[in-house]
Amino acid sequence: MPNVLIAYASRTGNTRKMAELIAEGVRYAGQGAVVRSIHEIKDEKALTGYDGYAFGSPTHHRNMIGGVKQFLFLVEKAGLAGKVGGAFCSYTHSGEAGPMIFDTMRQVFEMDMLDPGPLNLTEDLLETSEGIEACRQYGRALGEKLAR
Ligand SMILES: Cc1cc2nc3c(=O)[nH]c(=O)nc-3n(C[C@H](O)[C@H](O)[C@H](O)COP(=O)(O)O)c2cc1C
Repeated sequence: MPNVLIAYASRTGNTRKMAELIAEGVRYAGQGAVVRSIHEIKDEKALTGYDGYAFGSPTHHRNMIGGVKQFLFLVEKAGLAGKVGGAFCSYTHSGEAGPMIFDTMRQVFEMDMLDPGPLNLTEDLLETSEGIEACRQYGRALGEKLAR
């Protein structure tokens, strides 16, 4: 069964919650999903063997958080060109991390990115059924893209 790796950074839990909900959507689409903190991924070998990837970060200071920048150097070494990808971000007012990660995955790593672009949710929206469903839908879209 194809598997999706959902890797996130999270300081106060919002981005982690998004990762777990995205995994539910992937599984709903009949695919396997593995959720990992970026801190559990020590080298590029831990990134191989998956068919799809979603990477997430909160926005801090209008950017992805520091650890995610280092993590993306591991992703570069892993060589994920052509793999299905998505990106997600929790934020309060500007939300730059999602588009930054998404663009890097598409333009630099040449991954096959989801058409809707990154999933960016304010932390307030994540408290609502609408926000929860948006995460599940994003995961479902990832799983369905893999099945095609
Ligand atoms: C030091 C700091 C800087 C932040 N900077 C931004 C920012 O530039 N833009 C934004 O939209 N949110 C910003 N936020 C809000 C976080 O992105 C938001 O609280 C997010 O939900 C945290 O995700 P987490 O629970 O996964 O850590 C900032 C939060 C902190 C603590």
